[in-house]
Amino acid sequence: MTVEATQIAATRIAEAGVEAVGAVATLAELTALETTLLGKKSELSMARRSLGSLEPDQRREAGAAFNATREALGAAIEARRSELAAAEHRASMEAEALDLTRFIGPVNRGHVHPVTATRERLEDIFIGLGFEVAEGPDLETDWFNFGALNIPPHHPARGMHDTFHLDLGGPGDYVLRTHTSPVQIRHMRAVTAERGGPPIYAIMPGRVYRNERTDATHLAALHQLEGLVIDRQITLGHLEGTIDTFIRAYFGSEFETRFRPSYFPFTEPSAEVDMRTAGGDWLEIGGCGMVHPTVLRNGGIDPEIWSGFAFGFGIDRLAKMRHDVPDIREFVANDVRFLSQF
Ligand code: PHE
Repeated sequence: MTVEATQIAATRIAEAGVEAVGAVATLAELTALETTLLGKKSELSMARRSLGSLEPDQRREAGAAFNATREALGAAIEARRSELAAAEHRASMEAEALDLTRFIGPVNRGHVHPVTATRERLEDIFIGLGFEVAEGPDLETDWFNFGALNIPPHHPARGMHDTFHLDLGGPGDYVLRTHTSPVQIRHMRAVTAERGGPPIYAIMPGRVYRNERTDATHLAALHQLEGLVIDRQITLGHLEGTIDTFIRAYFGSEFETRFRPSYFPFTEPSAEVDMRTAGGDWLEIGGCGMVHPTVLRNGGIDPEIWSGFAFGFGIDRLAKMRHDVPDIREFVANDVRFLSQF
């Protein structure tokens, strides 16, 4: 080994190394290459070890050549490192860029379901008339759904309700409430317990269930708005006036309604309310009547002192009428093309 040969080797190692450094594309590759070029097992380290066989003068000279190579490689690596770091930083900034001024086009915002909107609108109307809003459970005992409302077991009126019965394996019969009228009983009792009794001016909205075939005007799970007024000397006139007021408030004064004598075990007298459709037919939208004395008694209220009226309207049907929807099942089909019209 001559000094000249080591100088040539040092130059060659430096040139090849600088070229390799220029060729790496990532910081991770550069770190790996740094070990290859400058590590203990690198060609440079091996060549240095062989200097032991030279004379001291020559060793110094050759050593200087290798040191220069080492410095050249180190400088090239550092320069490339800062270049690559800058490039990677730039790329990540570009990838994460957030332009707050960019227009992304129309956004589909959700809105409340038309049946919910109808329920809220009706609640607003009644709150404006001084009514309070009460609620009861969807799962009811047979007594609240029927018995307390003057419909004892085997009463033929049970046939008017196609009831979903629940077998919960325990004592007592449970049903999915077939109407919101059981909330009348619950509310009368709550009012008696909380403030000693009537007057009561309340609405009770909620979901009810009917085990029957659905069609353009019937749903198996529908929504009702129950109303209950109990005070001194309440008459049928108050009932008609209240219904007339809320129908006009919700639909406008051009809509036509009619009362048709009917029968409910929990009201006497009873009536059904029909509304004229755009096509000229009449559609039943609810039932009503003067609260039966037995029902008042079951609610803990003395019928000798108090009288009242009750009504129950189908919220889905009111929404159907208001928006002229031909098939009530549209409300539960959840087709956005339908829902987004509201
Ligand atoms: N609960 C009756 C029904 O679902 C409606 C109604 C309520 C009738 C209150 C009279 C009084 O058909």
